[in-house]
Amino acid sequence: MSILKIEKLNTYYGKSHILQGVNFDLNKIGCLALLGRNGAGKTTTLRSIVNLTRPISGKVLFNKIDLKGLSTYQIAEKGLTMVPENRGMFSSLSVLESLNIIKSNKKEWDIDRVLESFPQLKTKLQNNSASLSGGEQQMLAIGKALLTNPKLILLDEPTQGLAPNIVMELIEILKKILKEKISLLIVEQNINMALEIATHISIIGKGETKWNGSKREFKNKISLHKEWIGI
Ligand SMILES: Nc1ncnc2c1ncn2[C@@H]1O[C@H](COP(=O)(O)OP(=O)(O)OP(=O)(O)O)[C@@H](O)[C@H]1O
Ligand SMILES: [Mg+2]
Repeated sequence: MSILKIEKLNTYYGKSHILQGVNFDLNKIGCLALLGRNGAGKTTTLRSIVNLTRPISGKVLFNKIDLKGLSTYQIAEKGLTMVPENRGMFSSLSVLESLNIIKSNKKEWDIDRVLESFPQLKTKLQNNSASLSGGEQQMLAIGKALLTNPKLILLDEPTQGLAPNIVMELIEILKKILKEKISLLIVEQNINMALEIATHISIIGKGETKWNGSKREFKNKISLHKEWIGI
């Protein structure tokens, strides 16, 4: 069962050829961690998958559906949603307002269920979302993603700037989400965090896929990958 298959993705920003052949396959429910150095093209890969930046060539297949030509919104309706790097906060909105603007199709996740999963948010419903701590903002962003009832969530450096204890909490949250049969594609600089949760690893360097494999294969040969992941 292919969840997400990326084939020969090529993306430009203006005249700069940024993605020059990105390929990977998440072939069963799980978590793929996309690793690579600064500027390797990780964020551009996520943006290209949901057509925030349109790839010039290549294929993105989500549950075998070709996403070519679909808007980011239509892609979210199909069950693929992205939590962007800045966590997509609406600073002037309260926590409750931020959740309310997501049109939940009320299949599995509604606001009550999200608040049960993130009790910390429950006590801050009227607070301005910009006033939340980094960890709470990440929870709100994930909560908003869950309201779209996704089958796959893309997360761009979810642990960036979070204290170690909050990172642990986030890992537990993401593991629970995986148990709900929702797949994850995580961009991470924190290799340990990625190894905690990933089932598959993809390494990108200079806009090109350098390696794909299981977490076990990756761990066995970690020294081979140092050049591209910067450890
Ligand atoms: N809007 C843009 N216009 C032009 N070039 C861009 C734009 N955004 C990113 N780039 C360039 O594209 C390349 C890939 O950037 P990208 O943000 O995808 O990398 P990344 O792997 O996510 O890096 P980081 O680890 O720093 O987040 C970099 O060289 C970057 O300078
Ligand atoms: Mg990035």
